[in-house]
This record gives sequence, C-alpha cells and structure tokens, in this order.
Amino acid sequence: MSLDLVAAPLLSTLHTLCADPGLSAERIMQETVSLLKANCPRYHWVGIYLLEGQELILGPYVGKHTDHTRIPVGTGVCGTAVAENKNQIVADVRTLSNYLACSLETRAEIVVLIRHPEDPTRILGQIDIDSDLPDAFTPADEHFLEQVAACLARKLARSA
Ligand code: SME
Repeated sequence: MSLDLVAAPLLSTLHTLCADPGLSAERIMQETVSLLKANCPRYHWVGIYLLEGQELILGPYVGKHTDHTRIPVGTGVCGTAVAENKNQIVADVRTLSNYLACSLETRAEIVVLIRHPEDPTRILGQIDIDSDLPDAFTPADEHFLEQVAACLARKLARSA
C-alpha cells in the first residue's frame, strides 16, 4: 500500500495513543515501530533511538537483530543526524564509508530526528528506518515521519 493511503490513518491512530495518559512512552514507542513496519511495506527495519548525553540508545525496534544498541554522536548515519542536527536520507548505504551495518540486505536508510516540542534545538532521539530496496525513501517519507516524531516528542517530553 502506498504511503499516501496509510499516512493519515496511521497518524490518527498514533495521536489517539499519544493522548492516552494510561499508556507509557515506552509502550507508545513499541506500538509506533510495530504500526510503521506492519503498514509500510518498504520499511524493513524500524527502530527508535533516544539521545542520552553523547550517545544514542536503542529503544523499541522491529526487524532483524542489531548489535548497534549504543551509537556515539557523529558515528554512522544515526550519529551523523545528531551531529549535523539534520534528518538523513541515504539512497544506497553501500556508498557510505561512515555506515554501521545492521543487515547485509539493507540498501536505503532514513533517520528523522525527534525534537523537543517546545525547543526544537533539543534533540530527544530519532526514528531510524532501513529498507532492503535501494532509493526507498523520499521527502514524503521524511514529512510523514516528522509528524510521527512530533507526536512521540509530545509524549516523551511529558513523561521526562
Ligand atoms: N545503520 C545505522 C545503524 C543502525 S542499524 O541500521 C539498526 C547507522 O549507520 O547509524
């Protein structure tokens, strides 16, 4: 199914989950990665990293096992997003020297930062998605995931 068709219902579900005070931030992150992977066929590995000091710590994820549970700022695509304060879209990870492989099948990667709702200069974490298809991600994915990140940011900021 195309992103156009799934984006609005997914965002609506996430907004409902985030507004439920009975659900923890951890539970909402788990639901988010599961919903994204189940509804977006190009999203083969979906995870959330939280920034703690100068390190990204892996939270909930769905997809193949990864050894990259702690990533220093500046390392890999994930750490580069924080160091450059900028979302990353990589069409083919094989062209990168600064890449941390989670699976040999991965071709494309997108990282969208989760920013504090009241202070966007404060990075709380990131949504990291890998695809086995080259050039899998477009600015439409980035725009969609920015809205997902904003929803998570409100929950994370409230429960911090
Ligand atoms: N590829 C990422 C590491 C995370 S794994 O893909 C799950 C990177 O280069 O930072």
